[in-house]
Amino acid sequence: MKIKTHEFIENVDRTSNTWKIIKQMTKNVHQEEAFYVCNLREIIEKHKIWLSKLPRIEPHYAVKCNDDIAILEVLASLGACFDCASKSEISKALSVGINPERIIFANPAKPKSHIQYAADVGVSTMTFDNESELYKIHDLFPNSKLVIRLRIDATDAQCPLGMKFGCDPVKEAPKLLRVAQFLNLNVIGVSFHVGSGCREPEVFKRAIRASREIFNYSSTLGFNFTLLDIGGGYPGGKDSSLTEIANVVNNALDEFFNDLNIRIIAEPGRFYVTTAYTLACNIHSIRKMTDEDSEGNTFETHRMYYINDGVYGSFNCILYDHQAVTPLLLNEDPTKKMVSSSIWGPTCDGLDQIIENMSLPEMEIGDWMVFEDMGAYTLPVASPFNGFPVPKVYYGMTQEDWSVFRSIITVNQDDVLIVEEPLSEEHELYNLKIPSGLPVIIPARKKSIAFSTNSAELMVG
Ligand SMILES: Cc1ncc(COP(=O)(O)O)c(C=O)c1O
Repeated sequence: MKIKTHEFIENVDRTSNTWKIIKQMTKNVHQEEAFYVCNLREIIEKHKIWLSKLPRIEPHYAVKCNDDIAILEVLASLGACFDCASKSEISKALSVGINPERIIFANPAKPKSHIQYAADVGVSTMTFDNESELYKIHDLFPNSKLVIRLRIDATDAQCPLGMKFGCDPVKEAPKLLRVAQFLNLNVIGVSFHVGSGCREPEVFKRAIRASREIFNYSSTLGFNFTLLDIGGGYPGGKDSSLTEIANVVNNALDEFFNDLNIRIIAEPGRFYVTTAYTLACNIHSIRKMTDEDSEGNTFETHRMYYINDGVYGSFNCILYDHQAVTPLLLNEDPTKKMVSSSIWGPTCDGLDQIIENMSLPEMEIGDWMVFEDMGAYTLPVASPFNGFPVPKVYYGMTQEDWSVFRSIITVNQDDVLIVEEPLSEEHELYNLKIPSGLPVIIPARKKSIAFSTNSAELMVG
C-alpha cells in the first residue's frame, strides 16, 4: 500500500537524538549514500513495555524481523529469548551467547539439515503443523520438544500467514497429535500466529480458547502439555499501542489458562524493532513533468524524485510487508510551494516506486528525506540490485548510553555516533526480571542490562 496523502507529516519530533544525528551527518558534503540511525534504547523501552503489559509472557524475539547482531545482543542481555526460522538464524542467536533452551525453532516446515543442526546444538523446542514433518523429526531428533501450530487467522492483518502455516484446530490437529502419539514423540504444547501486524485484537481470545481445547484433547492421549506459544502479531510503529491486544490476551489467559505452571511464550518481531530504525535518503535526481496551456505557456504538473534507496533495498517492505511509508523532509521550509510528487528508488526497474502520488514541498537535488519506523522487515530482505548498496546502519546514542552499550554490543566503534545530552535526575534502579528463570549465559566479556523504571539511566549489571 502506498501512502497518497500528506498525513502524519507534522507528527514528528525533529529535536530527537536521531534527528540531531541525521542533521549532523548530512552536513557532511561527502555523505551521499542513504543510511540508517538505529536507536538501541528503543529496544529497551519496548522490552519494558512488554514486561509491564504482558508480565506472564516470555518474549521470544523473531530474528527474521531484523537480524542485526546489536539487537540480538541487547535483547540477550535483557534476558529475552529468540524465535528462529532456520539453521543460520539459530547460529546467529547462539553467537550472542545464549542458552539453546532460550530458542524456539518456530518454522513448521524445516529442511532436514536444519533439524539435524538444531539437534546438534541443543535447540530442542520446535513447531510442526503437518504429518511429514513429524516423520522427519522422528528420524532426526526424536527427543525434541514439539509444539503443534494451529491456524487461527485475524480478520484483518498487515501480513496474513494462515494460508501457509498452521493446521486446522478441529479437522487436522487431533489427527496430527494421534500420529505424534503413534511415533512416541514428545509434544509439549500449542502455538499459533494470528498474522503479522494484527488489526483484530479479539482474535487472540479465539486462538487461546482453541488452544485450550487442544490442551484438553492432548491429555486424553496421555500428553502432558506445558507450553502455550501465542506467536506474533503485535504492532510496533510509533503511533501504535500494545494495550488493546495485551488486555485481550491477559483476560483470555485468566479465563482459559489460569494454571500458572503452564509456560506462556510469544514471538514478537516488529513490536521490538520498528521504531528503533530511521532511514535517511538523498535525492539524487529530479524529473519535472510539464504541460502547456492554451496560450502555449509551460507549467509543471508533477515532480518525480529519485532517491538512493528503493523497493529492492529497504523499501522492499512496501511490496513484501505491505508497509505504508511516510517521507519526512529533513529541513522543512514553509515557504516552498507544494507540488504533486512521486518518489522513486535508484534502480532501472519501473517497479521501483516508493510513493505513487502525494503533495510535497518543492525539493532540490541533494535534499534529504527521512523515513521513521523502518526497523521491521527492511534490511534482512534488502538487496544491492543494480549496484546500489544496502544502507549502512549507524548506532546513535548518548555518551551515558554508550557507557552501557559498549560492553553489550560488538559493532564497530566507528559506526557508533554519540549525541551529547546531559542526564540529571536521581533514579531508582532495579534488576530486570527474567521471566522464565532460565539462566542467561552471556560470554565473559558481556554483561546484562538493568534499567530504571522511570528514567533514562541504564546500568550494566
Ligand atoms: C513464526 C513467526 N513468528 C513470529 C513472527 C513475527 O511476527 P510479527 O511480524 O507479527 O512481529 C513471524 C512473522 O512472520 C513468524 O512467521
